[in-house]
Amino acid sequence: MAIIDSLKQQAFREIQGAEDLKKLEELQLKYLGRKGKLTEILRSLKNKPITERKKIGEVANKFKHELEELLNQKNKSLITTRSTPSSILDLTRPGAKVLRGHAHPLTQVEEDVRRIFSSMNFTVVEGPELESEYYNFDALNIRENHPARDMWDTFWLKEPSQKPKVKSEKFLLRTHTSPVQIRYMETHKPPFQIVVPGRVFRYEATDASHEINFYQLEGLMVGSDISLANFRFVIEEFFRHFFQDQKIQFRFRPSYFPFVEPGLEVDIRLKNKWLEVMGAGMVHSKVFEAVGYKNIQGFAFGVGIDRLAMIKYEVPDIRLFYSGDLRFIRQF
Ligand code: FA5
Repeated sequence: MAIIDSLKQQAFREIQGAEDLKKLEELQLKYLGRKGKLTEILRSLKNKPITERKKIGEVANKFKHELEELLNQKNKSLITTRSTPSSILDLTRPGAKVLRGHAHPLTQVEEDVRRIFSSMNFTVVEGPELESEYYNFDALNIRENHPARDMWDTFWLKEPSQKPKVKSEKFLLRTHTSPVQIRYMETHKPPFQIVVPGRVFRYEATDASHEINFYQLEGLMVGSDISLANFRFVIEEFFRHFFQDQKIQFRFRPSYFPFVEPGLEVDIRLKNKWLEVMGAGMVHSKVFEAVGYKNIQGFAFGVGIDRLAMIKYEVPDIRLFYSGDLRFIRQF
């Protein structure tokens, strides 16, 4: 029996001290394997007298169960420690950066623009991307067959089988945000000032500065005594905030849009370069007529949000915004 006792002590000590699963496996073989120490004792019993065999057998079997139990427990604890190894937990290691999503650069710019105009008391409104010919063209003084229609290459929709209730029967994807001017004026009384961010579509060839789908921001301020001086103040204020640059220079050039008179183009000078940034003008009397306004004046403007983003972030090609390339998107 003394031999079993000392074997037991030795086995328990070794098992408790096992540092890994490999060592534990070796110990299992050492004591319980085919040629294991305990196996040998059990095997030798057959040569012992029956009374001794019984006594030793009982103790040896108990020891076997205890040994198996201990090996099992140790096995479990080694597996758990292996999956959370405190020995290799290095608290000084820099943390792994978690990749979090963020707003697309165009969304960020649109939010900036909304915020700046809201701070100047403009209301942000939206309108439909699917428009009727009436709102996109006719009410804006762009009559059918007028050559100015060619300024906006259009995605037309197939004519619906059922007659729509709106004034025109032809539908299209809006080519600019200007139709929202009409929709807003039809349902509101002046004075007011609004901006309209939104997606627009043009059926034209793409290049580094032209997309078939892009974003615009329309602005409209109407009141009894609104003038180009108000326009100039608002726009200069906007660009100074947007580019966080108080020294931007501005140039207002005459231009033509059927829904304004006079019409103008605004250029800004940034980093020694003149850039064309928006179309604008005083709202045409025909537009006010279409919505039933009398003795009123106002200014309107339309700016490309993509172009603003390109200038702000020095993006050389508008198509990058729509490429879905994460290497590009993650830079913002
Ligand atoms: C217009 O769309 C007029 N509705 C703007 C306007 C509103 C004038 C109110 C007067 C009063 P234009 O076609 O120039 O104008 O477009 C306005 C801006 O949209 C351009 O200055 C440019 O920044 C942007 N833009 C035009 N075409 C594209 C295109 N294909 N891809 C990206 N941006 C474009």
